[in-house]
Amino acid sequence: MNSVLEINSSLKSLVHEFETRMDQASSLRDLEEARVAFLGRKGKLAKIMSAIPGLDSSERPLAGKTANQVKTELTRLLEDKKNELERLAAFRLDPRFDPSLPGRIPDMGSIHPVTRVIQDICSIFTGLGFDIVTGPEVETDFYNFEALNLPPGHPARDMQDTLYITESLVLRTHTSPMQIRTMEKRTPPVAAIAPGKVYRRDSDLTHTPMFHQIEGFLVDEQVSMADLRGTLTAFAQRIFDPGVKVRFRPSFFPFTEPSAEVDISCVMCEGRGRHRDDISCRVCKETGWVEVLGCGMIDPEVFLQVGYDPEKYTGFAFGLGVERVAMLKYGINDLRMFFENDLKFLNQFA
Ligand code: DAH
Repeated sequence: MNSVLEINSSLKSLVHEFETRMDQASSLRDLEEARVAFLGRKGKLAKIMSAIPGLDSSERPLAGKTANQVKTELTRLLEDKKNELERLAAFRLDPRFDPSLPGRIPDMGSIHPVTRVIQDICSIFTGLGFDIVTGPEVETDFYNFEALNLPPGHPARDMQDTLYITESLVLRTHTSPMQIRTMEKRTPPVAAIAPGKVYRRDSDLTHTPMFHQIEGFLVDEQVSMADLRGTLTAFAQRIFDPGVKVRFRPSFFPFTEPSAEVDISCVMCEGRGRHRDDISCRVCKETGWVEVLGCGMIDPEVFLQVGYDPEKYTGFAFGLGVERVAMLKYGINDLRMFFENDLKFLNQFA
């Protein structure tokens, strides 16, 4: 072997031969044998390379370069095959493992939209300095009604469709009793919200016997209706949309005076009463407004019940329905969706 052409062609067939050898190799031992036979000190490549010094000096550099490239190529082929065999060996550890089966995607679960809205509302109010308080769902007549200026026989008790446990124990019909429980324990200034379940004897398209409310209130010296408006407007713009409009309508609640109901501009039709395609908006019944909560200035009678001086302190309170906020926020039109736990519904909140 004494021409560069001969050397190049031997190198070329060496690569082919090595490729076949790699194809046939089925164990790490086969690979090691191939390595010694081709790349070893006395192997096939070394043998071809031993002819290079005998070449004409002008041909030596090219032959040397080609031989080195072949060496690199053989090493790479060997390494690839080794990786492949190791990967297969890992699978073969468990003979029941079938790598051709499609993978299983674990169900991740998601936070229930009601829980999510409670969390969102709580974080808005804690950001404004309110504490979070919770209390019992089985409540005494005193906390659920009497201390809230709803004495026995008061006509407003009928609004509530109360579920009684005994004559003096009820399933709370609202979260307002948490105003009383919290004020009894603290002295002003106090600002708190109370999320939780409430119960009413009511069940149809838009009512469920259990739903969620969040109560909020703030008491200090010189708290005014302007504070109430500012707080609730900021809240509505954060939970719905920075551009949402807010209006306060006069209303009545026994535990606030004056009282108001708060409407926001309808989030479905953007306050126009009709959708873009001119179909009338069912959510706001074409009024452009939807009610979101009740509120007012805490009645002095309530302060007397908890031992606060009504000459010194004023405060505001509000109560909102969580499901209602969730329906508006996520465009859900059937209240029952929240309680059926249909995964096709819940997965949309993942
Ligand atoms: N407790 C009322 C209800 O369940 C809601 C409410 C209205 C709460 C006005 C308040 C308030 O704190 O000031 O219908």
